[in-house]
Amino acid sequence: MFDPNIVPALDPNPLPAPYWVFKLLLLVTFFLHIITMNFLLGGAFVALAAKWFSKDNKHGFRVFFDVVKKLPSFLAATITLGVAPLLFVQVLYGQFFYSSSIVIAWPWFFVLVFITVAYYGFYYVSFRAGKEGGRPVLVQTISALLIFCVGFIYSNNFSLLEHPDRWGGKYLAAPSGWNLNLTEPTLFPRYLHMFVGALALGGLFLVYIAIANWKRDNDYARQVFQFGGKTFMYATMAQFIVGPLYWMALPRDTRMLFMGDSPLASALLMVGIMGGLVAIVLMSNAVRTEKLRMAGYVVPGITAVVLLCMVVMRSIVRDAALKAWFEPSNFAIKTQWSVFLIFLVLFVAGVVLWLVMLYRFFTAKKVEPSKP
Ligand code: HEM
Repeated sequence: MFDPNIVPALDPNPLPAPYWVFKLLLLVTFFLHIITMNFLLGGAFVALAAKWFSKDNKHGFRVFFDVVKKLPSFLAATITLGVAPLLFVQVLYGQFFYSSSIVIAWPWFFVLVFITVAYYGFYYVSFRAGKEGGRPVLVQTISALLIFCVGFIYSNNFSLLEHPDRWGGKYLAAPSGWNLNLTEPTLFPRYLHMFVGALALGGLFLVYIAIANWKRDNDYARQVFQFGGKTFMYATMAQFIVGPLYWMALPRDTRMLFMGDSPLASALLMVGIMGGLVAIVLMSNAVRTEKLRMAGYVVPGITAVVLLCMVVMRSIVRDAALKAWFEPSNFAIKTQWSVFLIFLVLFVAGVVLWLVMLYRFFTAKKVEPSKP
């Protein structure tokens, strides 16, 4: 029997800034996390696909290593940019997040192990570039699968968080924490939606590699451009099947939010659908006519808007699921403006520094080691 008191009491300490500030920061930082996570997860699989589908072994290995060499940096970025939303999730949804993390304690703990092993794997493979032997494809496959599992465990935890009514049953069935949330109807379409989105961004990753090599080695760059552009297109097309599956798995009340019950949710869904369609058409045109600017700037810009809509929609789904337990007006608030201002300045400076680092990372010229 479900105990309505299963949700821990709200932390009586007041929030140091208004609720909406934390909500906004959660959405912004999660958006940044999801971008790097998509490049990492999608890149890890697209590197393998490029190797498998390439008729020419030498070409396949070259694309493979060009992608894999960047993955340790993307993993570092994913972790760093995951910490920020984690803090805001704890502030706003701590009662739910800690409880579901305890219910799935062991898989949740294994996230650390999987990330550490995958990290070693990506470094190992990137150091094998240009060398014979050493089974880089096998190690890459294992690392990619581990990262895939990490994402899946996240989806388990963040979907279980939305269902306090299931915690008790799961906990009593396995108090040691060997649980997942596999009976949740939205779990698989939800994670598939994330994964297919990551594959699309993996395709964009290849488009950038093509652009970087366009002048240096045009033949190579054109092949990579085609493969990357098409991966983006087909993955985004697949979202038109996966997205509706996810929507259909949602409870009726939540589903109807996107069908007019909530003007904001419905508008976001429309923008997301239109943006996806426009991105497919533009990418198809860019692939046929080799328009680098279109594929490298316009399509990613539209994709970013679509992703932002999805991030906000995900938050609407969570708040709808938690409405019986979660009421923002219950938070005590005592704004500490001076501290908040310092935080804001540092936050903006941090983001700017990040952008500068990214620019330098992608535009740095290779330095050849000097011969003795
Ligand atoms: C390195 C591999 C990682 C992958 C593949 C990954 C993937 C994901 C995915 C798929 C979700 C969405 C889950 C869902 O709602 O269904 C997610 C959410 C999240 N991730 Fe990551 N993640 C990774 C690492 C991390 C790390 C290391 C942190 C923290 C230190 C982190 C923090 C978060 C947070 C806080 C959310 C949820 C934010 C919210 O609900 O608003 N992630 N991640």
